[in-house]
Amino acid sequence: MQFTNTHCLSSRNLSWTPRVHRHRLHPPTSAVRLSPISAVVAAPPKPQKTHSMPAEKQQVFKSLENWATENVLPLLKPVKECWQPQNFLPDPALPLEEFNEQVKVLRERTGELPDEYFVVLVGDMITEDALPTYQTMINTLDGVRDETGASLSPWALWTRAWTAEENRHGDLLRTYLYLSGRVDMLMIERTLQYLIGTGMDPGTENNPYLGFVYTSFQERATFVSHGNTARLAKEGGDPVLARICGTIAADEKRHELAYGRIVEKLLEVDPTGAMLAISDMMKKRITMPAHLMFDGQDPRLFEHFSAVAQRIGVYTADDYADILEALIQRWRLEKLEGLTAEGRRAQDFVCGLAPRIRKLQERADERAKKMEPHGVKFSWIFNKEVTL
Ligand SMILES: [Fe+2]
Ligand SMILES: [Fe+2]
Repeated sequence: MQFTNTHCLSSRNLSWTPRVHRHRLHPPTSAVRLSPISAVVAAPPKPQKTHSMPAEKQQVFKSLENWATENVLPLLKPVKECWQPQNFLPDPALPLEEFNEQVKVLRERTGELPDEYFVVLVGDMITEDALPTYQTMINTLDGVRDETGASLSPWALWTRAWTAEENRHGDLLRTYLYLSGRVDMLMIERTLQYLIGTGMDPGTENNPYLGFVYTSFQERATFVSHGNTARLAKEGGDPVLARICGTIAADEKRHELAYGRIVEKLLEVDPTGAMLAISDMMKKRITMPAHLMFDGQDPRLFEHFSAVAQRIGVYTADDYADILEALIQRWRLEKLEGLTAEGRRAQDFVCGLAPRIRKLQERADERAKKMEPHGVKFSWIFNKEVTL
């Protein structure tokens, strides 16, 4: 078994290699007490590239403001038409006995779901709940950031409303998990505090070309992942949780449409610039937003969570290649014209990448099959062991 999210496609040798130790290992618990930085974050900072988009290209985004108002903002849902977490949860306004009854029914429904399912759902929930990090990341992007916190530029309007939509995802999953009684909320909350304190550097370099490629990919990844937790909840006997995950997945699909539309427009107005950005992000590999997660105990928590997600089919190496292929198709990259020689090389690289990823993954799977399965304890489920 290889870990989808722990592989690295090196830009130099184009090899798909296990990335087990590449994301920074977190300090052991003893170190957490010693270092002022590592007491609050899971990983010390590493060299980071900033402001890679030439200043004149900010004009591209200025010139697209009307376009964004007409083509991106309509993909937001009016608040009144949006679902809210409370639509799926026991109603605290009921008399206590009735509320308790609803919680009891919820616990009966979740009672049959396996521990490994909860590990993955917790990881997904923590990923959603680190939303301050993602809003920050988007607001680092030159030319599209929210300059005041209440800017009326369509880019800023989108980012705030997108954040507000996303905010419901973590809220709902967290409350549902809390009421299930199946997970250790204290350890989950601690993991989340570390994660938000640590942040992430997906390699987007304040560059909105890179940023929107990243978000296009990520929205699709979350759509796939929540879709799969929905399917497994249904199979495991909890139709309400299935509806919750399915409803969140539908939001992600709409978000993917929006970010994908922005990249599509960039490919139209600046084909080489956009093609190079796609290629750059794929060479770096799309990192998962929560790859620096740490619970204060397991220095390889993200790797272990990813392995369980891969094993139960919530997010796999195949999904990574599928997402890439879907984006290539959606952006019609194979037929893209008007590219410079450098742009064409980027096009060839990206369009030939998915089969190579699959082939390397097949080999990794073969190797993994020969390894003994082993168990890992997860603090999120009271240190119970789950097989990787
Ligand atoms: Fe989300
Ligand atoms: Fe989303």
